[in-house]
Amino acid sequence: MLKEKDLLEAAAVEEIAIDGFDFIEFYVGNALQAAYYYERGFGFDLVGYSGLETGSRDQVSYVLKQDHVYLVLTGALKPDHNVAEHVHVHGDGVKTIGLRVRDCKKAYETAIARGARSAKEPQVVEDENGKYISASVYTYGETLHTFVERKDYKGFAPGFKPVDRKYADNGNERKVGLAAVDHVVGNVEVGRMEHWVEFYQKVFGFYVYQYFDKEDISTQYSSLVSKVMANKSGSVKLPINEPAEGARRSQIQEYLDYYTAPGVQHIAIATRDIIKTVAELQKRGIEFLRVPRTYYDALPERVGKIDEDIEELAKLHILVDRESDGYLLQIFTKPVQDRPTLFFEVIQRKGAKGFGKGNFKALFESIERDQAERGNL
Ligand code: FE2
Repeated sequence: MLKEKDLLEAAAVEEIAIDGFDFIEFYVGNALQAAYYYERGFGFDLVGYSGLETGSRDQVSYVLKQDHVYLVLTGALKPDHNVAEHVHVHGDGVKTIGLRVRDCKKAYETAIARGARSAKEPQVVEDENGKYISASVYTYGETLHTFVERKDYKGFAPGFKPVDRKYADNGNERKVGLAAVDHVVGNVEVGRMEHWVEFYQKVFGFYVYQYFDKEDISTQYSSLVSKVMANKSGSVKLPINEPAEGARRSQIQEYLDYYTAPGVQHIAIATRDIIKTVAELQKRGIEFLRVPRTYYDALPERVGKIDEDIEELAKLHILVDRESDGYLLQIFTKPVQDRPTLFFEVIQRKGAKGFGKGNFKALFESIERDQAERGNL
C-alpha cells in the first residue's frame, strides 16, 4: 500500500494535467481482420478509417468505439514500414496509450524537460473539423504515450474518414456494455519496475496508488511484484509489473520472452453490468480464463453479501474481491493474438477502487494452467 516516501515524492513534482485515457492504438499484422474481431467479438462499432482511399499510402488504420473506449488498429502496407517492423519483432500489440490533455504543448514540454524521450513533437492540425494537437513521448519498451488535445474537434482525428458500421445480429444491434478504460498494465524486465515507477513520479507527477509484493502475488510456481501508478484524480491508472523469483518461469517472463520487450500486458475495461457483458462476450466467442468450482464455494465467506447470484458468477467464471470501500467483479480473457502476450480484463467496480488483490492467487493459478499447456511453465 501507500508508503510515506512515495507520497512525499509525489508532492514534490507537479502533475501533468491529464483528463483520462483518450485512445489505445495497436500495431497489428492485418488491421482489416483485427477490426472484424473487435467488432464481432467485443461489440465495438467501426467509426473511422484511414488508408489508401484517404491518401495514406503506407499504413492503414481502423478506429473502433464503444461508449468511451476508442481502439485504433494499425497495419503496414509496405514491408520496410515501422509498423511492419514492430509487428515482426513483437507480434500484434499495443503501441500507444493516448492520454487526453487540455494543453498538449505544455504536457509535452514538461515531460521532455523532466527527462522523457521524445517520439513526436507537438503537431497542430487545423481542418474543416476543428483544431487537433498531439505529441508523443516514450514509456517502457517501444510503447508511447500520446498527448491529445482535441478542443472541440469533430471526429476521431485528422486524416480519418468517418465510418458508421454497427454490427447487427438479425437486424438487432447487440450491446456488450464495455464503457471506459479502467487501467492499462505494463510488464517490464526483472529489476526495472522501480525505474518506471520513478519515471511516472518524476516525469508525470504520478504517485504510487497501490503496491503488491511477492507475498501478495505468488503461487506454488511463479511470482511477480507490481506498483500501480496513478494521477491524483484517479482517471489514469497504470500498474507496472516485473517478474519475481519463483520455482518456475513467471508469467511476466513468458510475456517478455514472446513480446521480446517490455510492453502492455492487459487493458482493463469497465462495465456497469459485468454479468450481461461477459455473457454476451462469451456468446460471441471471446475466451476467458476459468477458475475452479472451489473458488465459488469459498466466496460467501471471503466477500460477504453481494448483489449478484453466485451461481451465475460461477457459470461465467467471474471473480469477486472485497475491499474496505466495497467490492469489485473482474474477469480476464485469454491472450487476444497468436503470441501469449496481451489480454483484456473486464471489471465492474461497486465501491472498490483496487485491483482484486484477493483474486491474484486464483487468477495466477489459472494463467499458469494455460502457460503449462503452452509448454512455457
Ligand atoms: Fe487489471
